[in-house]
Order: sequence, then structure tokens, then C-alpha cells
Amino acid sequence: MTIKNTLIIFSVAILASCNQEKQSYLDASLAIETRAQLLLKEMTLEEKIGQLNLDYDVPASDLSKAITSDKLSDIKVEEDAAAYLLKQWEEDIVAGKIGVTRDIESREHANHLQKLAEQSRLKIPLFTVQNYGRGVGKDSTTIFPSYISMASSFNPTLVEKAAEIIARESRTEGINWIFGPTIDISRDARWGRVGETWGEDTLLSGEMGVAIVKGFQNNNAIEYRAAACLKHYAAGGQSQNGLNFSPIDISERTLRTYHLPPFKKAIDAGAMTIMAGHNDYQGIPCHANKFLLTDILRDELKFDGLVISDWLDIERLVTLHKVAEDFKDASLISFKAGVNIHNHGKGYVEALLALVEEGKISESEINESCLKVLRLKFKLGLFENRYAPDPKGKNLVWTKEAQELSLELSRQSLVLVKNENNILPLKNKNLNILVTGQNANNLAIMGDWVFDENYTDVVKIKDGLINEAPQNNNVVFYDCGESVNISSSHIKNSVKNAEKSDVIVLALGGNHFRPGSIENKTGGENKDVQDIELFGNQLELVKELKKTGKPIVVILVGGRPLAIEWLSKNVDAIIQAWEPGLFGGKAIAEVVYGKYNPSGKLPMSIPRSTGQANVWYNYHPSLYFRNFMFGEMGPLYNFGHGLSYTSFTYENLEFQKQINTSENLKVNLKVTNTGAIDGDEIVLCYINDKVSSVVTPVKKLVGFKRISLKASESKTVEFEITPKDLSLWNVDMKEVIEKGEFEIMVGTLQDTFEVI
Ligand code: BGC
Repeated sequence: MTIKNTLIIFSVAILASCNQEKQSYLDASLAIETRAQLLLKEMTLEEKIGQLNLDYDVPASDLSKAITSDKLSDIKVEEDAAAYLLKQWEEDIVAGKIGVTRDIESREHANHLQKLAEQSRLKIPLFTVQNYGRGVGKDSTTIFPSYISMASSFNPTLVEKAAEIIARESRTEGINWIFGPTIDISRDARWGRVGETWGEDTLLSGEMGVAIVKGFQNNNAIEYRAAACLKHYAAGGQSQNGLNFSPIDISERTLRTYHLPPFKKAIDAGAMTIMAGHNDYQGIPCHANKFLLTDILRDELKFDGLVISDWLDIERLVTLHKVAEDFKDASLISFKAGVNIHNHGKGYVEALLALVEEGKISESEINESCLKVLRLKFKLGLFENRYAPDPKGKNLVWTKEAQELSLELSRQSLVLVKNENNILPLKNKNLNILVTGQNANNLAIMGDWVFDENYTDVVKIKDGLINEAPQNNNVVFYDCGESVNISSSHIKNSVKNAEKSDVIVLALGGNHFRPGSIENKTGGENKDVQDIELFGNQLELVKELKKTGKPIVVILVGGRPLAIEWLSKNVDAIIQAWEPGLFGGKAIAEVVYGKYNPSGKLPMSIPRSTGQANVWYNYHPSLYFRNFMFGEMGPLYNFGHGLSYTSFTYENLEFQKQINTSENLKVNLKVTNTGAIDGDEIVLCYINDKVSSVVTPVKKLVGFKRISLKASESKTVEFEITPKDLSLWNVDMKEVIEKGEFEIMVGTLQDTFEVI
């Protein structure tokens, strides 16, 4: 008996150790959670914290900040310093002290760094990040229009396809984590970053955010997926004076009603990471805000991915917001509030090690954050596919499909806001067309967050207008420079040219092109403005040209709406072109010449003046109870406005007259193309809560559908309004659906809604 027992015990012991050997985190057949837990067990505290640290090869200009003073005396010349830092950084990767890096120069560079990571004790692959939210733009990869442009298409299906391409192309460049999509709601046209967003509406931003998340994270084969990063959490699009970084002092109800739902949607779609905002919300910096980062984000929105700090914003808890004494204090505050990864630089590993030692952060808290990183690295398959594939001969980048999609999104994003006497399209033969304006021959159509490439593939506006012109039309381009301060001789020469023309096409607006020269810039990140009228003396040019009596078509370029009241009263046609990207000039020309019937709708209202920088469609009923003393009220062009070369009618609106608060409400209507040419229509469905316990907006978008209709064709359009669409945040700050009546509005045109 005794012997038998011993034998049994012995055989069990052997089984256990076999099992352990097989159970390595490198075994791809194991579940992600098992792998993450197995790996965590092998890690030292320093290695765990290393996974929470983003560090990269600091540019030479930042050397003095990056090198600690005790080391400085050893370093004689800048080159030595750069080499020293590079060596230190690479050694840190091999030592497992860096989990995330950025500013990858090339595929080869990315692969070199991943190789170093593979030489580390535990072989954990690196997260490699970049702001490629709408395209890499390197080695002939594809760039898509900016988000404010793509928002005007109201076409999340195409946006999802674009995101799939962006992720694939990013992976071939060695990037596996993309800092995008931005899903801030833009409620201030002065903000330089409006072009990075989907405009003013909560539903549209949420749907587009979901499209990007799915495209980045799900649709490709695993080796071409990239982690998405929702930014900036939260409400940076409604900061004081529209200034980047400035305080956000909006109510919790506004936060919850308008700014958080896109995050909730994108989280539910599986968004892997989130970036905290630069600003303070109600006096607590977003990076120190437990209410935002833990109570809401983790407990309510159920986000279980990673929170990364924005660029040096943990440092700014000390230097800008002044809520921390020093970097260690700031690291503690942000870690406790819910930030998982420090972006970026030296000192974080040391700070967190000290905080654990002092008992202020427990190892189990570090484990929790570290596990989040490990899970995502396993989920993205990085342990198996850390290296960037060479796309040569594989039809992975700059494919025909990608280029066509970029062009199609440009087309769908153009909004025809005015077309007096149907001056457009310019279809007459034998027209002499003058093309001028400071944006006719530059890269403003590319917008912000593209990088320093050579841009040889870009079709500029004047090139598109020349190449696409119908036969026998004569297009003359007059170059008046790129500055918004157009010289008087340029104005005079433009007028001379205009006198010889039949029609003038003027490319005006702003310039947010990131690598562009600072003198020409009018927007972009940290390029906010206090005045949103046409910049410089553009209006002077238009006024002089107007005196010639020739019809004027204005193409407005730029990443924010401008106050264009004078233009809207005095020129014949206006196309809000935003930043239509690589093939923008071609798409614009197709609309101008009638080869493409415009279909975009405004995702953000166009104000009359700077005083309306905060104008939006979903305002509270009392907003216009008392008017400003002078001038007209309401926006110049409302959210959802956009003309076509054909016309549409809406009829037979049907819906259930009574529903329970748990039921979906089905709405359908017939839409007919009553014009003579084919066209796309974007049908928008709004509700209004007639009487509610707290104030609710006059309109709330609850559905949009983009449809294509041949001339004379009709289609039935269906919407399904969910109970959540009907909900509000009540006095106790609970989300509830109240009994009562709702109006349903279906319409697209300027300020006219069919109220049923
Ligand atoms: C921006 C982020 C961006 C980050 C990293 C910051 O200044 O706010 O949107 O992702 O830089 O480059």
C-alpha cells in the first residue's frame, strides 16, 4: 500500500513538470490570458514597469533635456551625445526597460529595434507607435482626406475600408499602434485641430470612430492589424477660447450627453487604447482625473484596454497644471488616476520603482497595468509577427484599390454650399476659366498630421482643373503665391487675367499642412486663432475680382469652418473642400465640371462671424430667445447642409405612433431623385424630446443613411431609433428614458426640417 501511494505521487509530480515546460508564454496555441499570466510570472518588477514606458531616439535638438547632468560632463560634442543616447536607448530595449517606442524611420529601422527586443531576456516585442491616423505617407503609401473631410461623406463603410488600408500600410512600415482616431467633438471653430475630428455631431463621430477601430484592428489578416487609440479623452473640442490645452469647464451633463458617447461606441467596438487629453476638466487635469479615467472609463464605459498619456503630459502636471511637485509626484498621481503608459522619455521606470519601494504603488497595481500591455501584444499577434513584411511584389501598399478609395472619399467629402443660378457645373464649351487664389497650387489640401514626404503624387487644385477641363475650355492659372497676405501686384494681375476670362475659380481658405512654412499656416495642432474670418487680405482679392462682374466660384480649403458671410452674399458658388488629400485637385475639378455630382453634407456648421465660433445645431431652446443686437442669428450654413446638381423629395414618412421605452422605433420614408441626373443623397433623421425633466436640444441626430439614386429613381430609407437614442441625463445624473412625446424630423436642407 505505502509503495503504491508513493508511486502515484511520483507520477503526478512528473506530469506537473511536463506541463510546466509546455506552458510557455511563447506557445501561440495557449489562450491570451494564460500567456499573459505566464509571462508576468517571469518578469522582474523593473521589466514590468518597462512595459509601461515609451521611449525613443530623442532628436538632437532635445539632447540637453534628455541627458542627465552627471553624464553631460563626459560628453564633448553633440554627435557624441546623439550616439551616446542612441546607444543608451538601444541598450534599454535589450534590458527590457522599454515596452513602447516611436518615430520609426523605416521598415528596416523598425525591424532592427524589434530584433533588439527579441534579444531581451523575455523577448517581448515592442509596441511601435505613430500618428498615422489617415495614412503613412512614406514610400508611396496612401494618404486619405482629413477626418473633417471624410466626415462630410457620412460614409463609415468607405472610412472602414480606408482604415483597413492604413493599418496594412502602417504594418509594412513597422508601425503596430496608431495614434488615432481622434473622436473629439469640435464645438469651437477657433480650435486648430477641428480638421482632425469628425465635426460637431456625437452620432457621426461615434460611427466614424467605430469604422476606424474596426478597420485598424479587425479586418486585415492578423499581421496587418494595428491597435487604435481613441483621443483625446475627454472633451478637448470644447475648451476655453478654442485653445489647445486650455481648460474645459463644461457641465458633467454636457460631457456625458455629447462628448462621451463616441468613446463608448468605439470602446464597445473593441478599441484597444485611449489617450488622455491635454486639458484640465473642471479643474482636474485629464491626466490626474480619476473620475474620468477610472470611475467613468473603467467602471461605467467598461474599457479594459490601455490608457496612454499624451505627449509629455505627465511632465506637464508639474510644469503646466501645477498639481504635482515633481516628476515622481506626477507619475504617482497619473498612475493612480488611471494612466497606464508614460509617453515619453527618461525617468519613468526609476520613478515607479521608487514609488513601489516607498509602498505608494503596490506591485499588484503594476501587474494590472503590465497585464493590459501584454494582453494587447498577444492579441495583436506581435510575439509571432513582430517584423514588418517587405511589401515588394505583394500588392500591399499604394495599391490601385487604395488610390481609388482615397479619390472616392475626396469626391464624397466635397460640400457644395452655394450654387446661385446653377452656375456650377461649368459645362459650357469655349469657356475661359481663370484659376487663382493662394491655395490653388499648394499642399493645403493635405491638411495636418501628414509628414515631410515629397508629395509628388498630389493633384493640386490648379492641376486638377487644367487636366479635367472639358475640351475647348481654356484654363489659365495665375499664381498669386501661397500667402494669405496677397500682394497688391498679385491682386492687380489677377484682375487683369479675370477681365479676359468668363469665370473665375478661386482657391481660398486656410492652410493646416503640417510640414508647410509657418508664415503660410492658419491652423493645425497648436495653431488656434481668435478670428475665423477669411485670413489676411483674401477678401480684398475677391472684392477686386467681383468688380469685373465675372462669376466667381470659391473653393474653400482648410481644416475648420470659416465665417464667410460676405462671400456667401457676393460670390456665385462655394465648395467647402476641407482637406481632400492626395487627389483633392482631381475630385474638385470633377465637381466643378460636373463629372461628379456633389453629395457631401457639412459635419460642422459654418458660422456668420467669429462671435459664432461656438455655433452648433443641437443647441438648447433658449439659445436664440434673445438675439444679438446686430446681424442675423443662427449659423450661415447649418450642420447637414449640402447641395446637389439634382433634387430629391421625401415622402411617406411612416413610424409606429406609440412604443414602450424598451423598444426600438422603426422609421421609414420614400426618397426620390426628381432631377435629371443620378446622385447620392444623405438622409438625416433627428428627434426632439418635446417635454423633458431637464433641458434637451432642439434636434438630435439619431440616424443617417447615404443612398445612390438614378434620375427619377425612388428608394425606401429605414432608420431604427434605439431607446438609448431617446435617453437623457436626468437631475440625478442618471441616463433614463422618459415617457412622453418625441418629434421625428427627416431633412437635409438649410434650417428647414419637415416636422411631423
Ligand atoms: C497630440 C496627440 C498626438 C501626440 C503624439 C500630441 O501633441 O495631442 O494627438 O498623438 O502628440 O505625437
